Amino acid sequence: MGIILRSAGKALPEKILTNDELATIIDTSDEWIKSHTGISERRIAKDDERASDFAVKACEEALKNANNPEKDLGKSSPHKVVRPEDIDLIIVSTATPDFPCLPATACVLQRELGCTNAAAFDLNAACSGFLYAMDVACGLMERHNYKYALVCGAELLSKIVDWQDRGSCILFGDGSGAVLLENEQAVGEKITERGFTSFILGTDGTGVSALYGGEDGKIKMDGRAVYNFAVGIMAKTLMDLMEKENLSVDDVDYFLCHQANERILKAAGKRAKLPEEKIILNLANYGNTSSACIPMTLSSYIKDKRIKPGMTIVFAAFGAGLTWAGAILRT
Ligand code: UT7
Repeated sequence: MGIILRSAGKALPEKILTNDELATIIDTSDEWIKSHTGISERRIAKDDERASDFAVKACEEALKNANNPEKDLGKSSPHKVVRPEDIDLIIVSTATPDFPCLPATACVLQRELGCTNAAAFDLNAACSGFLYAMDVACGLMERHNYKYALVCGAELLSKIVDWQDRGSCILFGDGSGAVLLENEQAVGEKITERGFTSFILGTDGTGVSALYGGEDGKIKMDGRAVYNFAVGIMAKTLMDLMEKENLSVDDVDYFLCHQANERILKAAGKRAKLPEEKIILNLANYGNTSSACIPMTLSSYIKDKRIKPGMTIVFAAFGAGLTWAGAILRT
């Protein structure tokens, strides 16, 4: 309680790769991809672009939005300006960091953003990574009494996709999303009912081989196995979270899940008996951007005021590992 979402931002590569263009490379069709996944197109980074190029832009937009009373979900009174040097913590969730081993991509962000007082590190829990990073950030903010944190998902999956494998390459895209968190207690605000409350984290390591980067560094996936796991674990995570806080479906404004595949999201929603109109679908133009898709979606929904102060959002994600995660946010 007391760690609130102030703002969000996102950044995407310019290049769009449509299903029709993909069908000129591999044996597939726009009709098959749309009907099996809900994806129409995705963004693809240039050869010389790195995850940090987009992560920096997403964080800059989150900072800018926090300083714009129109786009600041925090709505403190008087409005609190956040400067780069006020940021205490930067976490980047990524499976495609700038460098193969050292240093963390978050360190590049720290330099580029001018967050001279921030501790910075990366975290990899695959597509569940953003929610893992949010839980870690909330914990560290409470423990160190940090005022502000930037949590970012940044993924260039096009670099690790096997472009010959039609069963997986059609799914993925590149992009970055970021949020700015505020610790109400540390900034001297009255602690409200807003912010992140319950988190769920989990892993089943027996599923390592269902989705992994092979010896060649390219994604290998058992699509059916991942599909079945995803539907079950996301439905369970959403239901467990609601039970934990004694919420009914009517108490929740949106269910925001990892944007892997429209069919998975609808099937999970059906299994958990959730109304379709509350399940956010935001993958038609981006594909599956792994841990970037939840903050990217937050950014779009806050921007056009579909997410406003006073709402309750329940999150769930799954990913390679196999990992899963969930959270509840009151805006
Ligand atoms: O962040 C987590 C990332 N991973 C996921 O979210 C993956 C979860 N799994 C899925 O989303 C689905 O399993 C896929 C979309 C990957 C595949 O859909 P599916 O309905 O499970 O298809 P399938 O693998 O059972 O294949 C059905 C048929 C096969 O042909 P045959 O053997 O029936 O003749 C495939 O070869 O569809 C064929 N197929 C394709 N056809 C056209 C597989 N990929 C394609 C394709 N275009 N891209």
